[in-house]
This record gives sequence, C-alpha cells and structure tokens, in this order.
Amino acid sequence: MGKWILALFMSVGLGLCAPISAQSNAPNPQAKPPASQSKSSAMKSKSSGQSKAATADVRPWWQSAVFYEIYPRSFADSNNDGIGDLNGITSKLDYLHQLGVDAIWITPFYPSPQVDFGYDVSDYENIDPIYGNLADFGQLQTAAGQRGIRVVLDLVLNHTSDQHQWFIDARSSRNSKHRDWYIWRDGKGPQQPPNNWESLFGGSAWQFDPKTNQYYYHFFYPQQPDLNWRNPAVKDAMFDVTRFWYDRGVAGFRLDAVDTLFEDPKLHDNPILPGKNAFGDPNMEDQYNRNLPEIHGILKGLRKIADQYDAVLIGETWTTSIEQLKDYYGADKDELELPMDFMFTMVDKLSPTEFRKQIAALNSSGGWPVYLIGNHDIERSYNRYGDGKHNDAIAKAMAGMYLTLRGTPIMYYGEEIGMANDDPKTKAEVKDPKGKLGWPQDKGRDGERTPMQWTDKVNAGFSKTRPWLPVADNYKTHNVAVELKDPNSILAFYQKVLALRRSTPALLLGDYVALNENDVNVMSYLRSYKDKAVLVVINMSSEPQRVSFNLTPQGFSTGQAKTLLTTMNGISGSLRLTEMSLEPFAVYMGEVSR
Ligand code: NOJ
Ligand code: CA
Repeated sequence: MGKWILALFMSVGLGLCAPISAQSNAPNPQAKPPASQSKSSAMKSKSSGQSKAATADVRPWWQSAVFYEIYPRSFADSNNDGIGDLNGITSKLDYLHQLGVDAIWITPFYPSPQVDFGYDVSDYENIDPIYGNLADFGQLQTAAGQRGIRVVLDLVLNHTSDQHQWFIDARSSRNSKHRDWYIWRDGKGPQQPPNNWESLFGGSAWQFDPKTNQYYYHFFYPQQPDLNWRNPAVKDAMFDVTRFWYDRGVAGFRLDAVDTLFEDPKLHDNPILPGKNAFGDPNMEDQYNRNLPEIHGILKGLRKIADQYDAVLIGETWTTSIEQLKDYYGADKDELELPMDFMFTMVDKLSPTEFRKQIAALNSSGGWPVYLIGNHDIERSYNRYGDGKHNDAIAKAMAGMYLTLRGTPIMYYGEEIGMANDDPKTKAEVKDPKGKLGWPQDKGRDGERTPMQWTDKVNAGFSKTRPWLPVADNYKTHNVAVELKDPNSILAFYQKVLALRRSTPALLLGDYVALNENDVNVMSYLRSYKDKAVLVVINMSSEPQRVSFNLTPQGFSTGQAKTLLTTMNGISGSLRLTEMSLEPFAVYMGEVSR
C-alpha cells in the first residue's frame, strides 16, 4: 500500500460540449486547438452550464478526455540543469499527441522555495525560474492547443509558502494587514501548542513564531502555513488567481488538498487512535481539521467562475466513503466535475471482486467517475499490482481496465512505459523531507517521482546532466524509444487502447454492465451503447482461465464477439462467447452487436 495512503487513512471545435461520434483510429483527431487555449476565446457564455448536456450524445469535453499528469521537475529537462522544465514539456507534446491524451495536468510550477517541490507557492501568478517564465508557458499553451491538448494547472488553496508576501507580512506583527489571512493562536501554556492536531508530515501542526509570540497552523510542512478560509479576503484573492490563469487560456485546475481548507474554530482536540505513525506520533482521527462542511461553499464559488470559462475542476479528494465523495460533486452537481476516487487506488491487489465493488459504489454516486491508478504521492502502479514476474502483463491488464471503464481516466507520467518505483536506498539520498523524518518506515515520495525514461542512453535521455533524482533501474528496457519500436510493449498497448477508446462510442458513452460477478479471477464487463457493446475481459490471475458469457439478458444474443484488441497473439476475427480461453493476465476486447 502507498505510503501516502497509509498516512492519510489512518479545441475550438470542441467548445463547451463535445458531440461524440465514431471517429478515425488516429489519435487526437481534433483538427483545431481547444478554445480554452487562447485568451481571446477563453470566456464562455454562462448560460451553457457544463453539466447540462443537451442530448444523450453530447457530453462536456472533460467526460471524453484522457488526462495525463506531469510532474514538471521529472518530465524533460530542456536546459540541462538536471531539473525538468516547461520547454521540456513543450518538446514532448508530439509524444503526448501520439500517445493519445487530450489534456495535461501540470503539478505546481509557480515560484516556490521548493520545500515541498512546488506545493509551497510563494507567488500564484508567475513561473519559478527553474521551470521557465510566463512566455515559455504561453508557448507551451499554444503548442499544446495546436495538438488539441488542453492544459490544466494545479491550485494549492490550503496553504502558501512561508515565503509568500502574504505570510511574510502576516508574521511581521499581530496588526499586519495579512495577519488574519492565516491561523494564529496562543499556546495552551509555555511550550504547549493550542491543541493536539498533528501535521500529516510529522509532529505538531502548530509552529511557534517568537516574533509575535503566537503559534500558526500548518497541516503540511511548517513552511506551508494554512490560509484562513474564514477570511473573505483569502477567498477573493484565490478566486482572482483562477481568473488570472483562465484569462491565459488554462482549461481548469486540479485542486490540491481540498479536504483540509477548514478547521474547527474552537480547536477541539482530535480523537487519538491506537498505535503510532511513521513519524512516531500517535495515530489520530482528523475529526476537527478535515472534511468540514464549509468546504462546499468554496467549491461552489470556484465552480461558478470555472463555468464561465468552460473549465474543469478536478479534486484531490481523499475520502473514506462513497457518501463523502458524492458530496464533492455537490448536491446539484455544482461543485467538482472530477473528484478523484482514491478509494479505487486503495485496492492494492488484482482483485476483480474488490474492483467490482468500488466501481459499483462509484457508479451509484450519480457523479461522473474519475479513475486513476497512480500519482506523485502514491507508490507506482507497476509495483503496487506487479507480482515481480509478470509486471509488464499486469501493467497492461490494469490499463485495459481503468482506461475502458465508464468515466474519465487520469494517467501518471511514465505509467504508460512501465516505470517502476525506485525508493532511495539510504536516508542520506532522500529528497522529500517527509522521507527523512519517516525513514525507514516512510521513505517519502522520491520513488514515484524519478525522471521520465525517454531512451536507454545516459540519464534515460531526460537530461545531459545528472538529474535531481536518480533514474530508476529499469530504464534500459522500459523507455519510450525502445517501446515505440516494440508492438508488444506496454506503450504500444496504451496507444492502442487510447485510440480504440477515442474511436468507439460505447467506450466513451456506454453504460457499464458487470458480468460473471462471482468470478474471482476474471474481471469482465460490457460497455453498452445503443445496438452495440464492447466486451472487456481481463484475466487477473497468473493461471490460464476459461470463461463463458451469455449476453442474451443484455440483448446481445449472437454469441459472438468481433475482436477489437487483445494482448494474446494469434487471436483475431470473431470468438465464440461460450468458450473463451485466456492466457495469464490477458486482456481481450471485442465488439458485440444486437
Ligand atoms: C497534495 C499533493 O499532491 C502533495 O504532493 C503535497 O505534498 C500536499 N498536497 C501538500 O500540498
Ligand atoms: Ca531544466
């Protein structure tokens, strides 16, 4: 299980709504850039609310899109200083276009002391010089738009850097203009913080500031003081930040840590749970400083602005129940369009039973599902699901599933080539501060953030200089250049699935119908749309399996599937549904008709 999870649980042509129809197999067939890439066309009419699709076949653009997360430090280094940058991303847009993604989410590249590698922002309306400048960002936007790729940014709402001008002013005196933009309290007594709340990254969530003799609150590192969202000036300033970027053509935001925006003003102590965490602190239930109902008012406000720009809001929404996740869509579907379901990432074994349960729960929420299997805080999916022997086949099995479910997938860079986690070998090597504090139980998040593997040459083609993190061990075999030449590579499989998804209305629009629900080895379902359906069958076991389907109850009685895509060699044409043989970890997709 991912360390992060453990810690937490204790195109002009596209316009507002994209008509979806059968398209050519070529990736990214949009001929024109998305409207949201240009400043002049960014503002959209308010009347056309995103969630109100006019007909069953017209959906908002983000429902048919495939998103791809880029951690900019680690994607591509254009100026060879060992750190990835915006021009590096621009240089790889053709690759992303060929892969078949529709939008990129770039994690924070704003000016930052880089304590939390960008999640400590010191200026929300600029670019950190290590990544480039606003002109570079403009070029990235334009180049992405020319390839039909939208650009989504990361918005850190909960906290700023302690080097942000707002905080520098706030800590200067109790009477400063920005004092009440942060959360300041007296201690309970000498050297006693105001209450027992703990930082997610270890230790008390309160930091004493001798200058003004008070404590400030930080859910994350002490260098990330929490903003006081009960102060309307904070809300106005952050809402303006979103307008700043929308006016530059960004297509939306991934909202960081939304569950921690509000805290109980009375500062009740949190309940203590048995045991200790990796930092040696008692386990705690974050009852009074997490998931407070006031969050929803802020999300509704952010959504109103986003809707004016045809922009999407994706949420980093850690939840423990489907009810909690459902709340993030908003009672009137007026909050987040795409709240991420991290409960799905917690199914950390290849278990059709567990996946079915999660998918059914998510579908029951009434919101549009979002699926991801990895990100910059979670151990890579290649390791979480891999058995050490069949990792490549398993990587294809996972892709075959989550890219064909009903919903919007968010990929993580490198997942498509089978990048593996590469945790630091010694404490001295660790870059992520929480890995130093939690060593060896929590080695931090460096392992899932290693440089993108472009080639089998020096530094995996990421940079001519030694990269900020070492390249993972498997780069000689698992890299873009080698895999592009191999029709059986993980990358080739991702390209094929994404192209099939794009050209198949049933995969974009179809209902999800679980099949053979008692099968503990084989995950199978239909994506059914009008008179056609795609049958997806995935052997999640290391043994060959035989399966049989009777699709008459679903109205498909021909007993045959026309093969669309499979990892099994030598299979093409039509297959009989009553006697299907599957190799270990095989993926099969076939079309059935009424
Ligand atoms: C969630 C981000 O994904 C993570 O990387 C970061 O450390 C925290 N939020 C704090 O911003
Ligand atoms: Ca660089």
